[in-house]
Amino acid sequence: MSNATKFGKVAVLFGGKSAERAVSLDSGQAVLDALLRSGVQAEAFDPQDRSVTELVNYDRAFIVLHGRGGEDGQIQGVLEWLNLPYTGTGVQGSAIGMDKVKTKQIWQGSDLPTAPYRIITKETDLDAVIAELGLPVIIKPVHEGSSVGMSKVEKPEDFAAAIEKATQHDAVVMAEKWITGREFTISFLNGQPLPVIRLQPPADVAFYDYEAKYQRNDVEYGIPCGLSETEEKNLQALCLRAFQAVGAEGWGRIDAMQDEQGNFWLLEVNTVPGMTSHSLVPKAAKAVGYSFDELCVAILEQTLEGTA
Ligand SMILES: Nc1ncnc2c1ncn2[C@@H]1O[C@H](COP(=O)(O)OP(=O)(O)O)[C@@H](O)[C@H]1O
Ligand SMILES: [Mg+2]
Repeated sequence: MSNATKFGKVAVLFGGKSAERAVSLDSGQAVLDALLRSGVQAEAFDPQDRSVTELVNYDRAFIVLHGRGGEDGQIQGVLEWLNLPYTGTGVQGSAIGMDKVKTKQIWQGSDLPTAPYRIITKETDLDAVIAELGLPVIIKPVHEGSSVGMSKVEKPEDFAAAIEKATQHDAVVMAEKWITGREFTISFLNGQPLPVIRLQPPADVAFYDYEAKYQRNDVEYGIPCGLSETEEKNLQALCLRAFQAVGAEGWGRIDAMQDEQGNFWLLEVNTVPGMTSHSLVPKAAKAVGYSFDELCVAILEQTLEGTA
């Protein structure tokens, strides 16, 4: 990129202190390397090690922090205060996207299909939850990512351990109806959906868990995704509405499933998805001709439009 100077000095924010720090370190380094290769004056900035007030020395920020603190509106709020343009979703959309329940409430209120769920507290009558959602269910911390703290529960006696595990990561825990079927992920660039990817974890794992995501290389990524052209268009249109409903902007990713009857169910939105060279957004962008470096520059270009 010959005109990379237009970006000025760019802070690539990665690391942080969330449960997804390790993933962020990988993603952030990949983005930093890509921007440097593209001639951008980019520097690493780990808010765990440095005061965010030092951000005043930069012209803009590329946020590659995953999870709490970085993907939930906190750092976005700091950048707003400093009047520094930044990539991706703003304060409110980030805060909503980090909360799986708030996200679902907005989708439900917008008539968008999301898997049925219940918040679980000490007072919750688990028999009533089973009567409502059936079995299996998946137990999730409400504010985590990367499948941290999640388990599939097939028998009533397994609830307690699953809830305990999720509680170690979050004060708010939910049970969600288990969707049997196919899993898809829909990436966004410039606010528009990219080709859908089908995710197929190996047969011996219950779902696309942390290990399958980051430590194994036998997850299959279908792109093209195997849906008919019409179905893929429908899913993209559904996800675009879902992306906009929560106020997500620019780039991101929505995870969804299709049940055995062919119905789509939205799972969650990621406003700062993984960005290693083998992550999902780069795969989807590649399918429409973006190299990893071009993708990183395209995301950064958003900050020129005053998205912050
Ligand atoms: N309702 C569900 N039914 C079946 N599998 C699910 C369900 N919800 C999540 N999963 C599996 O768990 C993975 C992680 O769930 P997700 O809601 O995307 O949270 P995150 O990616 O933030 O950890 C999904 O990619 C999917 O494989
Ligand atoms: Mg997910």
